Amino acid sequence: MRISVVGCGYVGLVTGSCLAEIGHEVMCTDNDESKIQTLNKGKLPIYEPHLDAIVSRARQVGRLAFTSNASEAIGAGDVIFICVGTPPLETGDADLSAIDGVARMIATESQSSKLVVEKSTVPVQTGQQLKRALAAYSHGTKVSFRVASNPEFLREGTAVQDFLHPDRIVVGVDEVSTEQQLREIYKPVLERNFNCPLHAPKCPPTVLPPFIVTTINSAELIKHASNSFLALKISYANALADLCERLGADVEEVTRAVGLDPRNGPNFLRAGLGFGGFCLPKDVQAFIRLAERAGMDFGLLKEAEQINRERIARFMDKARHALWVLKGKQIGILGLAFKPHTDDVRFSPPLELIRQLLGEGALVSAYDPQAMEKTRAIYPTVRYEADPYSVAFGADALLICTEWPEFAALDWPRIHASMARPMILDGRNLLDPAAMKALAFEYHCFGRNE
Ligand code: UDX
Repeated sequence: MRISVVGCGYVGLVTGSCLAEIGHEVMCTDNDESKIQTLNKGKLPIYEPHLDAIVSRARQVGRLAFTSNASEAIGAGDVIFICVGTPPLETGDADLSAIDGVARMIATESQSSKLVVEKSTVPVQTGQQLKRALAAYSHGTKVSFRVASNPEFLREGTAVQDFLHPDRIVVGVDEVSTEQQLREIYKPVLERNFNCPLHAPKCPPTVLPPFIVTTINSAELIKHASNSFLALKISYANALADLCERLGADVEEVTRAVGLDPRNGPNFLRAGLGFGGFCLPKDVQAFIRLAERAGMDFGLLKEAEQINRERIARFMDKARHALWVLKGKQIGILGLAFKPHTDDVRFSPPLELIRQLLGEGALVSAYDPQAMEKTRAIYPTVRYEADPYSVAFGADALLICTEWPEFAALDWPRIHASMARPMILDGRNLLDPAAMKALAFEYHCFGRNE
């Protein structure tokens, strides 16, 4: 099928390149000319495992192209995936101006009727508005548009895996023909009938993903409901961690046992610095606002948000308690990305931490395997080091802020010997407290026996 993708952020790039990978002809566009230039030079504007190889292969065989000419891109597809950003407004509502702009562009540039698919995360009833907007903006022309919602569940760092091997594919549709067209697009994934770039020679024999057909409103709600539930789980684990600290229990032991009950599930119960990134915080906020406008006070989510906001303050308290005065202290930060395997630092907890540490006069040095360039643009005064050992050298404390697996495997005795004061504040409960204590580190973490 011929597909256009509007918006080349991580969702658009992963969606476009994976659609090409499973056999479609895809043309992507973005109003950021420099992004398109970067892509056309064969480079990626983001770090996402496996994406590089998929994009270059798809371009080579001529199934994937990037253009800044929106009209060319829109003309190239029978189906258009809208993947533009919906950042939070001051009010917490999602800013839908980019979607509105794309609707106008599609309506005025299209020479033939098309299916328009919302991939961007949007509040419920956006599909209805989109339909009205497309009809209004194309008034007087012969073209018409169908609209569908197809929320993405792509986690940064594992987005390619999530696209090609999803837990479920959700489509919100009004007409049977739209359902059929989307089923056709996803057929290779639904039947696992593509050359998988992740598993050679064969994918593991897991169950095939269900294709869930709903109304457009339900599909839009599913996305917010799903992300907000994840946020609830994380905040619950963090509240448990605080309680464990007060009562002398161990949060890892507690959440492990809680998670073994399949009704609870083991994932997203990791206590620590809390959730960040461009999706969870903004989706929770937008969901609260959406409920408010529908006349409901979603207090449950507000509490989850509040617990999350307090994580940094709790970590700062731990740092002050351990170091007494922060001013003039040499603090090493390991991890800047909002989670491992990405270079994304948007709404990243470590960045807020750095802001507060610098505010208190601490001397901050940092290392992250992927996210240093993006952080340097925001905090140029931080000293960025080439490896974790240089960050630890002479430091009064080492703060672990992102659970990159390589941090767990560091030569900790070497680090101990090189620090001015061998102290670790583990914001992600990555290390084993007993092992760290056996190495004579002063070790602090969240909700575990220290
Ligand atoms: C999220 C959703 O998971 C994905 O389905 C959606 O489509 C996009 O938003 P992502 O933003 O990539 O994905 O991050 P996610 O893996 O959900 O993690 C979000 C944050 O929660 C990270 O900061 C992570 O460190 C934190 N987290 C996660 C915890 O603090 N504890 C946990 O147990 C799990």
